[in-house]
Amino acid sequence: MTGKVLERVHSVRRPAQFSGDGVEDDNDDESKTRKHISLVMRATNYLTRLTTGCNLWPYFLVPSFLLLVLFSSLLIASRSSVCVVSSAYDPVSRMRFFGYQDPDSDFGSLGVPWCRSKHGKTVEWTSKDLLKGLEEFVPIYETRPIKNNMYGMGFDHSFGLWFITRWLKPDLMIESGAFKGHSTWVLRQAMPDKPIVSLSPRHPEKYLKKGPAYVDGNCTYLAGKEFVDFGSLKWGSVMKKHGITDLSRVLVFFDDHQNELKRLKQALKAGFRHLVFEDNYDTGTGDHYSFRQICDQFYIRGGGHSCFKDSDEARIRSRRKKFWEKAVDIKELCGPGEAWWGVRGHMRDDFNHSNKAITYAEHFQNSRFVESVLDVYWELPPVAGPSLTHQNRYDPARAPTPIVEDGRFGLFQRLGLAGLDNSVFNGYTQMVFPLKGSHSRIISDIYDDQLVVAQFIVCCRKFSLVENRLFLLYLLSSSGKQKTKLLMESRDFGY
Ligand SMILES: C[S@@+](CC[C@H](N)C(=O)[O-])C[C@H]1O[C@@H](n2cnc3c(N)ncnc32)[C@H](O)[C@@H]1O
Repeated sequence: MTGKVLERVHSVRRPAQFSGDGVEDDNDDESKTRKHISLVMRATNYLTRLTTGCNLWPYFLVPSFLLLVLFSSLLIASRSSVCVVSSAYDPVSRMRFFGYQDPDSDFGSLGVPWCRSKHGKTVEWTSKDLLKGLEEFVPIYETRPIKNNMYGMGFDHSFGLWFITRWLKPDLMIESGAFKGHSTWVLRQAMPDKPIVSLSPRHPEKYLKKGPAYVDGNCTYLAGKEFVDFGSLKWGSVMKKHGITDLSRVLVFFDDHQNELKRLKQALKAGFRHLVFEDNYDTGTGDHYSFRQICDQFYIRGGGHSCFKDSDEARIRSRRKKFWEKAVDIKELCGPGEAWWGVRGHMRDDFNHSNKAITYAEHFQNSRFVESVLDVYWELPPVAGPSLTHQNRYDPARAPTPIVEDGRFGLFQRLGLAGLDNSVFNGYTQMVFPLKGSHSRIISDIYDDQLVVAQFIVCCRKFSLVENRLFLLYLLSSSGKQKTKLLMESRDFGY
C-alpha cells in the first residue's frame, strides 16, 4: 500500500476539472437562457429582413421597437423572479449574493487551513477516479441495511470510507466507533473477504431490538463487556492472531469522537500507517480536537483568526452564519483572551466530556508534531455542491471543491445521486485520510526550539515585515542554540 502514494506537484484542492473525463458535458442549465436570447434575436432578424430593401420601415419601426421592449421586459421579469426565489434557497445564489464569483477556487474569502503534506505529496487517486467510484457506489449504498443513520455516517463519508478502503485493499480493517454498524457494513462492501476488528462500548446487535442494525460475520467485536479502548489494546497480539506482519496492510478507521491528536499518537505507537478520521471538525466547532483544528495556524493561508469584532472576518462570518447551520461567527469562535484555536482555546475530547484549555504555544506544537509525522493529508471533498444536494449545514466556502460541482445537475442525475434523500447529504464534516510517513522525527527533541518559533509567529502578526526581520535577527543573536532551527522554521513561514 505504501507504493500507492505518489508525489504530485498539483494540489488536490484545486477545482476539479471533469472535462474530457468520459462523462458527457451537461449544459442543461444554460439551455433556457440560450432559448430566450435566440427568440429575441429571431424576432429582430425577422423584422430586419422584412424591412430591408423597401420603404415600409417607418411603419414597422414603432411596433417592432414596442415588441422588443415587451420581449425584453418579459425576459427580465422572468429572470428576476427566479433570482428572488433562488437567492433565498439556492446556495449558489447565496454565494453570488456574498460576492463570490467562484467560491470554490480559494475556499471562499475566509480561506481554509490544512495540514501540509511533506514534500507536496498527495494521494494517488484523481477526481476522475472519485467520479468513477461514485458511479459504482450509489447502487451499493441503496442496498444499505440501515436507511436512517442519524448520528452516524451519511452518504459523503460512506462513499469516502468505501473508496479509500477499496483503493488500499487492506488485509485487516479496524474501526473504532461502530454505533449500529453502518460503517462496518461500508467496510464490508469494500472488502468482502477481509477480517474486521470493531471497537465500540455498545455492541451493534443491541440496536437490533429497536430497528435495523448490521452485525458482521467476519468481524471481531470488542464491544459491550469486551470493550477495550483503542489506546489500551495490545495490538501486537491482535496482529499476530490475524497473521499480519506488515502493518501497512492495515486500515484504521476512527469514528469515536476522541481527540484526534491522542488517536494519532496511539496509532503511531502501535505502528499503523493508514488512518481515516470521520469527523474532521473545523476550528470553533465539534466535540473533539481535530486535524483541521490542529493545523489551523497563522502561517497557513486561511489559518489563524481575528477576534476583532469589527474585522472583515467577523463581518463575513456573521453573514455566512445566516445561511449555513454549522457556520460560526466570531463570538462563537473566540474564547476569553481572544483564544480562537481548537474550540475557543480548548482541546476537546471524548464527545466533549473532557475539555482542556491549551495555550497557543501548545496548539502550535501540536501542529508541528502532526505535520512532522504525516506524509499525506487528504480531505474528502463533498460528493456534490449544495445547490444539487440542498444541504444547508456546512459552509461550502470551508470545504474542498465538490466532486460533482454546482450546476452539473445532468451528471448528478446520471450518477443516481438525485434519487437519494436530501438528508443523507447533511452530515459532511471533512473526513480526512492522514498517512503517516516512514521518516517521522522524534518530536521531544525539537519542542524547545519550536516554542520560540511559536512566540515569534504571534509577534509577527502584529508587526510589519521589516519589524519581523529585525525581531528574527534579535532572536538569532540572542539564542545561539536555536540559530539553525529558527532559520529553517522562518523560511517555512515565508520570511
Ligand atoms: C458517531 S457514532 C459512530 C457511527 C458509525 N461509525 C456509523 O457509521 O454509523 C460514535 C460511536 O462511538 C462510540 N464510542 C464512544 N466512545 C468510544 C471509544 N472510546 N472507543 C470506540 N468507540 C466509542 C459510541 O458508542 C458510538 O457508537
